[in-house]
Amino acid sequence: MSERTPVIAGNWKMFKTNTEAAAYVAEFLELVVDAGSVEIVLCPPFTCLEAVRRGLDGSRVRVAAQNMHFKAEGAYTGEVSAPMLNEIGVADVILGHSERREFFCENDADLARKVGAALNSGIRPILCVGESDQEREAGGTNVKLRGQLEGGLAGVSAGQLSDMLIAYEPIWAIGTGKTATPEIAEEAISFIRGSLADQFDKVAAARVRILYGGSVNPGNIGALMAAENIDGALVGGASLDAAGFASIVKFG
Ligand code: 13P
Repeated sequence: MSERTPVIAGNWKMFKTNTEAAAYVAEFLELVVDAGSVEIVLCPPFTCLEAVRRGLDGSRVRVAAQNMHFKAEGAYTGEVSAPMLNEIGVADVILGHSERREFFCENDADLARKVGAALNSGIRPILCVGESDQEREAGGTNVKLRGQLEGGLAGVSAGQLSDMLIAYEPIWAIGTGKTATPEIAEEAISFIRGSLADQFDKVAAARVRILYGGSVNPGNIGALMAAENIDGALVGGASLDAAGFASIVKFG
């Protein structure tokens, strides 16, 4: 049995108004009061971060942002910084989601700065990595993953690695209903752990929690979580329904 506490995070992406979020939080909290030893994270859009965090006050559920800028402040229209997130009690931040990389041109150098800024502000980064369909078919999965880890974690020390989470999200599995099999996810995640052992050290790599993301649902979470190196899930579509997400949280 691994000593890594499982983490189940729900990435709402660009879904839910404040009103919808409030109804979700009320329903969800009731459903997860009896959840076992698992860390639960909700990642709403910026507009409802503070309201969701307030709604979760006194509960075990953490709140994460879906992105942030690497500078503390400045003339960067449309961006949000770590001190702003800190002040409203945001605990975690998703960085380098493939949708940010693809639609907003984020690269590994930007992400290294964002990861550093989050760690320095006491916000836990959840760094996403993953290959496309074409990259997998061309045999380039490991090269892609290693490059993203080396680039995105360039400024991180071995001691800091366990203060963050890594999410393996193969692009071909996101929003497609085509979940990676537990074998494929385990193979990639154990490669990631090995790569982190080379980049940092074995102890740090054994401690860091690595999540799987891509079409996770109440029916496949159990088999994914049974794999040795999979420490949790980053759930998109299936996290939008409070009852469905609660049953993923209670996978055990
Ligand atoms: P889906 O669960 O909708 O495939 O999304 C996964 C994801 O991108 C989570 O960050």
